[in-house]
Amino acid sequence: MFKTRITELFGIEYPVIGGTMMHLARSEYTAAVSEAGGLGVLASANYKEMDEFRRALRRVKELTGKPFAVNLNFFPALNQIDNNLYLDVMIDEGVRIVETSGHRAPEDVIGRIKDAGMKLVHKCVGVRYARKAESIGADAVTVVGYENGGATGTLDITTLCLVPRVVDEVKIPVIGGGGVSDGRAMAAVLALGAEGVIMGTRLLAAEETPLHPDVKQRLLQASELDTRLVLRSIGNTHRVIDNETSRKVAELEEKGAGLEELLPLISGMITKEKFASASDGGLLACGQGVGQIKRLQPMRQIITEVVEECQQAIARLNTLLPPAR
Ligand SMILES: Cc1cc2nc3c(=O)[nH]c(=O)nc-3n(C[C@H](O)[C@H](O)[C@H](O)COP(=O)(O)O)c2cc1C
Repeated sequence: MFKTRITELFGIEYPVIGGTMMHLARSEYTAAVSEAGGLGVLASANYKEMDEFRRALRRVKELTGKPFAVNLNFFPALNQIDNNLYLDVMIDEGVRIVETSGHRAPEDVIGRIKDAGMKLVHKCVGVRYARKAESIGADAVTVVGYENGGATGTLDITTLCLVPRVVDEVKIPVIGGGGVSDGRAMAAVLALGAEGVIMGTRLLAAEETPLHPDVKQRLLQASELDTRLVLRSIGNTHRVIDNETSRKVAELEEKGAGLEELLPLISGMITKEKFASASDGGLLACGQGVGQIKRLQPMRQIITEVVEECQQAIARLNTLLPPAR
């Protein structure tokens, strides 16, 4: 139904990528996105032990025979693990698609990715980073605008302005996101020239996403006004849901607090694997598209609904044109 260079490159039914999520993008989430016809992306950084990582990969393969990707994290981390260790396991387990994201392009591992015959998509937030990714041999690039949940970088460019700029500047296919929480936004991003979309925030409300039920309820009540940027003062800007923790972090940053002071509050995001049991959600990445979440649904239903809405949006646009003479 949708045929783009992204569906072709990854062998997926719909040009929809399920955004990787620290703590949440585990085997069940990843497989659920892929089973629904999109591309699930397992977050390798969730696993500190390689045996555990290998088990998670095998679990995805048990749950789905469809293509999936693994994210390698290039963001600053307290206990940074050498991405080569993950790559060893990924090569061993026959992973076909790698997503990289972070503060730099994956120049140090691109050789190994290519030698293993894997496809590489790099996720970033600006034109010059997208061009860099292309120059080192990425097969596709994902760009997310400032409204997105998670890391926003410092350029603060909205999806509407970023996607067409990147489409014009690179030859490789572009996946666009940041605020794609329904099919109208999907149609818009495709109209901007992207050949796929990435969704994160909307998928927080999927039944398969291991978030505490209270946090999911909070997301249902939230509007587009209920997110805030934090951690800019330590060079790691993130868009997160407005809650007690994020308000405290913002206050401390305003007062000029350093990393030491912030750590007890932000370590929830950095080290805990307990989103499922933390009823306030801690510092939870969340985009402005949270305002579009109307209900909790199984992953398949969300993706099918978004794709159908996208088709309807395109059909509606067609009706705006005068009939061809
Ligand atoms: C809870 C949460 C955690 C995330 N964690 C990561 C991460 O660890 N690495 C990463 O590259 N992106 C991460 N993201 C970003 C998503 O993969 C995706 O790019 C983004 O959510 C898309 O924008 P949207 O939220 O507006 O849909 C996270 C997003 C959310 C909502």
